[in-house]
Amino acid sequence: MAAPAREAAAPAPAPAPVPAPAPVLDVERVRKDFPILSRTVHGRPLVYLDSAASAQCPRPVMRAVEDYCMQSHANVHRGVHLLSQEATAAYEGARDRVRRFLNARSTREILFVRGTTEAINLVAQSYARPRFGPGDEILITGLEHHANIVPWQMVRDQTGCSLAVAPIDRRGELPLNEFFKRLTPRTRLVAVAHVSNALGTILPVEEIVSAAHARGIPVLIDGAQAVSHRAVDVRALDCDFYAFSGHKLYGPTGIGVLYGREALLAEMPPWQGGGDMILTVTFERTTYNELPWKFEAGTPNMSGAVGLAAAIDYVEGLGLDAIGAHEQRLLEEATAELQRIAGLTIIGTAAHKASVISFTLEGIHPHDLGTILDSEGVAVRTGHHCAMPVMEFFGVPATARASFACYNTREEVHRLSAALHRAREVFR
Ligand code: ALA
Repeated sequence: MAAPAREAAAPAPAPAPVPAPAPVLDVERVRKDFPILSRTVHGRPLVYLDSAASAQCPRPVMRAVEDYCMQSHANVHRGVHLLSQEATAAYEGARDRVRRFLNARSTREILFVRGTTEAINLVAQSYARPRFGPGDEILITGLEHHANIVPWQMVRDQTGCSLAVAPIDRRGELPLNEFFKRLTPRTRLVAVAHVSNALGTILPVEEIVSAAHARGIPVLIDGAQAVSHRAVDVRALDCDFYAFSGHKLYGPTGIGVLYGREALLAEMPPWQGGGDMILTVTFERTTYNELPWKFEAGTPNMSGAVGLAAAIDYVEGLGLDAIGAHEQRLLEEATAELQRIAGLTIIGTAAHKASVISFTLEGIHPHDLGTILDSEGVAVRTGHHCAMPVMEFFGVPATARASFACYNTREEVHRLSAALHRAREVFR
């Protein structure tokens, strides 16, 4: 018997979702926001490919800092006069802007610091040092920046705890089985980069956090190289600490952020003493201020915080998805072009990379290469990139590193590869 028509017409399987097209950035318009990009270097138009070291500042950031300095500057938290109130509102408003950027629960979890380096040192001295001792271990990875190595070595030397390092592989990836093997009952803290500055590798921080938390181990993420390329949600990541710097996010230098889970920050002692971090002081004893001010001794960097908030407005205005997609297109194009250059080796070939390419060119020291590129107007970073263990692992003294940001263009990728071809000729 024929099946009733109703049954025969079983619902067709739902069509596979079509991925949304990557958003497009109007790069020519973006470039107009960055006055420095129109200068020349050695008579050539500047090609700035060193944003992983310091990104350039757009006009809205400069304007925000200038407005603050011209209209509202005074010391914060200290005066009843109008300027001090305005400065306080600007500074604390910037803190709330950072909170929203990271999706933190509370401004009590947002500490202003000088940058990522200071943020990690704060956790090392205030979280790790008072708690750890012989038998305890801090786990990092083989691709860390010195800022996520040296503070832990200092704690190791101060407390007798030890430092374990999960190895990377020849692509510059972190094999998770090796990492998980090193999560032991001794591990008291995990500290990892979100994105490697020297290799561009994007680490699987979600999996790292969930494996560490399954064993009750808190996790610090060094987000210095991540925040300018992708949206970061500390609640979704569920990390315990997250650090980043303003100047890599198109903001001013000398300002950065440590996000910390409130329950952990509340238990941590202040790491520096002075004004603003206290409630009461006598010669006998001091009581400390509430979060976050307990960790902000002395006059803070108000104009830096204002500039950072403007930088966050700026990148969110462009859209971090659009920025990330644009940079990925440049990364793919640059990778393809560089691979065609004889004797050029890309150091760091992870499947998931941010827009950073480190490379060596046979027969030319990276510093000489950097000088030749500079003479062509192309600014790249050369050296060990504050990641000497990475250089040692790959058996090179240094690399040249090109890093791409929201304002870079395909034409600049071609200028880089043309300059590399010329360097090749010079040293042939
Ligand atoms: N840490 C910065 C870099 O990677 C300076 O270049």
